[in-house]
Amino acid sequence: MPKVTFIFRDGSQRSVEFEHGKLPYLEHGLPESFLDVAMNTGIHLEHACGGSCACTTCHVIVREGMQNLSDMEDNEADRLDTAWDLTTSSRLGCQAVIKGDVVVELPLYTRNYVQEGGAIQLGKPETPPTKDESEIRS
Ligand code: FES
Repeated sequence: MPKVTFIFRDGSQRSVEFEHGKLPYLEHGLPESFLDVAMNTGIHLEHACGGSCACTTCHVIVREGMQNLSDMEDNEADRLDTAWDLTTSSRLGCQAVIKGDVVVELPLYTRNYVQEGGAIQLGKPETPPTKDESEIRS
């Protein structure tokens, strides 16, 4: 039963375990990817494109267990090239499928091409705009 530890931006951590083949698939990212596991366990992982490898908001940095992940496909590598703060341990949370114990850190910044046209965002970009901001955008 793989154990997945998420290290959040504030330094706090949460570990979850799942049994292969038992997670209900929520159609976000590849089955048993970081995004799939996060969504099934109530962990917030940004995923602006719905897990279709079209943004980099699900960027995670693998701190332990890289060997316990699926190999990176070309489309993930191409998309990751556009991620903010790319490291040699970076993966897309919606594309990396978990096969064993892993520890990942959520980067401090994400670049959200879907919502902001490539802008870099700090913290929690999912915060809904205030009424005044909504009026400005419309
Ligand atoms: S959620 Fe967009 S690439 Fe993973």
